[in-house]
Amino acid sequence: MTQEVKIAASILAADFARMGEQVKEAEQGGAGLIHIDVMDGRFVPNLTMGALMVDAARRSTSLPLDVHLMIVEPDHLLADFANAGAARITAHVEACPNLHRTLQAIKALGCAAGVALNPHTPASLLSEVMHMVDVIIVMSVNPGFGGQHFLPEVLPKTRQLRQMISDTGRAIDLEIDGGVNVETAAVCVQAGVNVLIAGSAVFNPKFTVEAGIKSLKGAIGDKT
Ligand code: DX5
Ligand code: ZN
Repeated sequence: MTQEVKIAASILAADFARMGEQVKEAEQGGAGLIHIDVMDGRFVPNLTMGALMVDAARRSTSLPLDVHLMIVEPDHLLADFANAGAARITAHVEACPNLHRTLQAIKALGCAAGVALNPHTPASLLSEVMHMVDVIIVMSVNPGFGGQHFLPEVLPKTRQLRQMISDTGRAIDLEIDGGVNVETAAVCVQAGVNVLIAGSAVFNPKFTVEAGIKSLKGAIGDKT
């Protein structure tokens, strides 16, 4: 497969005291998207950031903002995230009893509509919404924290989702999130992923943001 693979820099791993700068560094370093992890302490056991951070990121970059909602009852907050500047909003299938309605609402707000799947959640749960999904995020860790180990058991499901996407004939982005680094990036791309979400492999005190993004691209054979 020769489609372009983008890096979505996940600001969960960034230095929160220098967020604007870090977002700019990601853009200058070659990231294609800025990934923003919203956690509520209920759907996942951690609290992170909300629409105010999306607004702050919007003022720091022209890259699309990829908002990942790890929250219960996301429908109440969709408009806030859209108004704050989200380009795409992804909700978890496990948190959406009325997933079809949630996707419709995201689209009606003018954003790309995404669904995320936890490691245990089968691809088949998306079969009846493939015609309306714009983004699928495969979680390759249990959501809630950065810096966890990649779970290779999600790769067969990732391949299955790529096949389901091809069957629609639509341009749906297949993203993978969690434990993506220079060791795991290539298998993800081989499984059909075209957006690699990376936190600690991009924002890491051991190297610059630019070097992190370059290394990830190098690991998948992208020389840009
Ligand atoms: C985890 C988040 C991820 C996280 C990834 O629940 O959804 O986006 O930032 O962090 P790394 O790349 O460090 O595993
Ligand atoms: Zn995420």
